[in-house]
Amino acid sequence: MSLLPARLRRLTPARARDDVRLRALAVGLGVIPPRTMHSAEDARLLLEAARGARRVVEIGVYEGASALALCDALGPGAELNLIDPFGSHPDALPGGWGASEWATRRAVGRASRRRGAQAPRILWHVALSHEVARRWSGAVDLVFIDGDHSEVGCERDWRSWQGFVALGGCVVFHDARAGAPGGRGLPGPTAVATRHFRRGGTPGWEIAAEADRTVAVRRTGLT
Ligand SMILES: C[S@@+](CC[C@H](N)C(=O)[O-])C[C@H]1O[C@@H](n2cnc3c(N)ncnc32)[C@H](O)[C@@H]1O
Repeated sequence: MSLLPARLRRLTPARARDDVRLRALAVGLGVIPPRTMHSAEDARLLLEAARGARRVVEIGVYEGASALALCDALGPGAELNLIDPFGSHPDALPGGWGASEWATRRAVGRASRRRGAQAPRILWHVALSHEVARRWSGAVDLVFIDGDHSEVGCERDWRSWQGFVALGGCVVFHDARAGAPGGRGLPGPTAVATRHFRRGGTPGWEIAAEADRTVAVRRTGLT
């Protein structure tokens, strides 16, 4: 939902469209929707992995597009943890882009209010994901890794969070299929997914589904 129709948004010059403060104001006030960062195929895999989940962690929220999709898909008993330090992060976003905590909270808040009593519980963590993991406790059904896209950053997210995933639960990597047939992605997440799930794999984990830029892996517990 946004006040400005898509055909008018398309007429906006790129410089204005990418201006961090202008975008924050427009997203925060609901004039434009959060920028879409995933394709329909990516979204389908993410939401399949989220089906029936009770506790979900999203690493990297930006303007909230995937958070809104999760907020719409999760049930009222579920908990959606949204982790982002906000601001500019060159390993997470194209140069000159940045997210505003104020704007994203407002966009997610609107989506949550729209669902009323059916909305999942939203918990915000304005911090780096590995810092949140350090003080985390309890099992998680789904971790969506879409924060720091450097190889080191993505590997740190995998190592920090994989131990919390319940049996049968999933980790979904975005931008992890560069060079795969029909795939797209970035070198960092692709290297992490290849190392852990393609070459012999990680015991107790298997690739559950993959398409476009997304690789979803499931904890089987079988070694
Ligand atoms: C690609 S965007 C996320 C897009 C979002 N998942 C979507 O689909 O709409 C990456 C985000 O990760 C955040 N980020 C960067 N490093 C991070 C870290 N260490 N922990 C959590 N978030 C991080 C950035 O601030 C940025 O907003």
